[in-house]
Amino acid sequence: MKDKPAAVPVPPIPRPVDRTDPLSTLALDGIGSLAELKSATMACRECPIGQFATQSVIGEGNPKARLMLVGEQPGDQEDLQGHPFVGPAGRLLARALEEAGIPRDQVFVSNAVKHFKFELRGKRRIHKSPSQREAAACLHWLEDEIALVRPLALVALGSTAARSAVGRAVPVMAERGKWLPRPDGRQVLITLHPSALLRVLPEDREEAFELFVKDLAKARKLFRTQPA
Ligand code: URA
Repeated sequence: MKDKPAAVPVPPIPRPVDRTDPLSTLALDGIGSLAELKSATMACRECPIGQFATQSVIGEGNPKARLMLVGEQPGDQEDLQGHPFVGPAGRLLARALEEAGIPRDQVFVSNAVKHFKFELRGKRRIHKSPSQREAAACLHWLEDEIALVRPLALVALGSTAARSAVGRAVPVMAERGKWLPRPDGRQVLITLHPSALLRVLPEDREEAFELFVKDLAKARKLFRTQPA
């Protein structure tokens, strides 16, 4: 008889982050740059996801962005390529940002969870949503990113991102298009995850896309140049 595979030990939840102090996680984690964040997250095994992923995927974009967009976690393509939002959801997000008048090269795009969680079906890797515990374990890496980039505001794409960015559960359908405060005073614009739009019935897709663009457009004011 075959031996049973050893159970994966459940790691402890990491220490809480002082969310009122944007620099506290830098002090706690000692992360001084995005390159250091990449190395640290590559080695991270604070939850069980990291060991199965190809690599960690941290945020990218303008390192001094006024606006940081936060998704859920890297998908299959992101995991293979090592960059956030390069798969189908990323292409849809790029199109929506353009329609909303938000310059893609001026934002920073990241995720609440830094490793791809999946389930194997044959050879296919099927996306699995991270648990609250896994997202909580990853939160201090997101806070490090926020402390490094220092955006004026964030956009939370979907419920995992909203919980991590705002610090509490957010009913996304009820709150979409609204700005909610974080404990550090930054505002977080709530909207859907772009992959939710990919699951909408084809006949409803255009309207769903327009509503998504309308939500994102609320962040456009951050990019208006001040009158001389
Ligand atoms: N979905 C996400 O939430 N993030 C990515 O980077 C890609 C897809």
